[in-house]
Amino acid sequence: MNRRKFIGLSVAGAVSIGGLYAYNESRQNKKTEHKINTPKELPIPPLADYKLVNGKKRFDLTIQKGEKNFLGDLKTETFGVNGDFLGPTIKVNNKDKVEINVTNKLDEKTTLHWHGLHINGKNDGGPHQIISVNDTWKAKLKIDQRATTAWYHPHFMDKTGYQVYKGIAGFFFIDDENSKKLPNQYGVDDIPLVIQDRRFSYNGSFSYIATMHDKMMGISGNYIFVNGAMTPVFKPTKDQIRFRVLNGSNSRIYMLGFEDEREFSLVATDGGFVEKPLPIKKLLLAPGERAEILIKVTENEKISFVDYLSKSYLIHINSNNTLVNTKSLPTTISKPFNIIPSTNETLREFNLSMGMGQALINGKRMNMNRIDEHIPINTSEIWRIKNTDSMINMPHPFHVHGCSFEILSRNGRSPYLFEKGLKDTVLINKGDIVDIRVIFRKRADRDNPYMYHCHNLEHEDLGMMGQFTVS
Ligand code: C2O
Ligand code: CU
Ligand code: CU
Repeated sequence: MNRRKFIGLSVAGAVSIGGLYAYNESRQNKKTEHKINTPKELPIPPLADYKLVNGKKRFDLTIQKGEKNFLGDLKTETFGVNGDFLGPTIKVNNKDKVEINVTNKLDEKTTLHWHGLHINGKNDGGPHQIISVNDTWKAKLKIDQRATTAWYHPHFMDKTGYQVYKGIAGFFFIDDENSKKLPNQYGVDDIPLVIQDRRFSYNGSFSYIATMHDKMMGISGNYIFVNGAMTPVFKPTKDQIRFRVLNGSNSRIYMLGFEDEREFSLVATDGGFVEKPLPIKKLLLAPGERAEILIKVTENEKISFVDYLSKSYLIHINSNNTLVNTKSLPTTISKPFNIIPSTNETLREFNLSMGMGQALINGKRMNMNRIDEHIPINTSEIWRIKNTDSMINMPHPFHVHGCSFEILSRNGRSPYLFEKGLKDTVLINKGDIVDIRVIFRKRADRDNPYMYHCHNLEHEDLGMMGQFTVS
């Protein structure tokens, strides 16, 4: 079975794929015969510095060009934020007032979107908040939501896939009083992991294509990186580790777990903590989705974090011979989220479909001059999202800006175990009908509307996106 088929499998099929595979470590790049470089240690993105100015936390981010050695001694041209590839982690607290100056040092326009933040449309960083070359955009973010692992990435119209692929992405952590109940020492027992796949051309550059087939399928690569490194080693010094996992890939879906199929605890989904740690063995993560998990390790233990779908090792975990004992798992992490339904909730339908060379929502291709939906502020609505393609098996991770939602049902049944928390992105497989309850708390006007779209970034760029206002 080739990889393409693996990825196309329905979730039910995917779950039944056992772990009885020989996992792949470093692969040859077929085109170049160059071997991928495998750094020893898991790189941890640095924490972004800030200055306190009039009670606000002020961050400076510069989007820039760079280069990085992935293949032998070949150089790969990249983009990064305050560095060559990827960006620093922004870490703030709920209720903080944050200001971020984003400077564009690329040779092309871009934007920077805060995926998962409940921020008004003007500061959302979507396709309308364009940052011209050498310009600085000031984003004012009033943090007003529970603890969450969010992230940032460009959202420039028609070029999101390309700019993210080149390396612009970073974490955005919001902490609150519940965050202290879990391991929270950044880089020690609180570990960000961004998973991304890439492919290369003969000269070492990222091969971001352009056949129509690639765009229709979404770009996927033959190498999978974690924090920009191929199968790095992480060495725990404590017996309990929190991974904050982000699928930052353009189109690849992962089924994450451990090689020995051990149990671990899910503690947060896209929109924040679940009420109680939830024991699971496998975690399906589509592009744009995040999950936080806790794992227990013992002294001198060697385990591997893997992707069951592509049969790849992602990280090797080799624990120290003495580990600091940490407190036991909290029984309750946070209050259950309660999205109080409005009376007479509006039901809106979103039909996702692939056309000839385009990707559509309700039969329409994204148009920046058209507002597709108007939502009254401080209401909840039911959004029914359908994957209406019957001919091709194409999953669509559907994402909504500026809010969180609860998944009410998946094909009339309850959602997957690992998506029973607050979400902002939900996977819609072939034939799926998924109902979500969304609550709209922040404003977005016609000039700065919010987006909803498929987070397969090639589909987004092919038009599978729409715009809405909240007022
Ligand atoms: Cu992560 Cu509209 O995007
Ligand atoms: Cu978003
Ligand atoms: Cu899609």
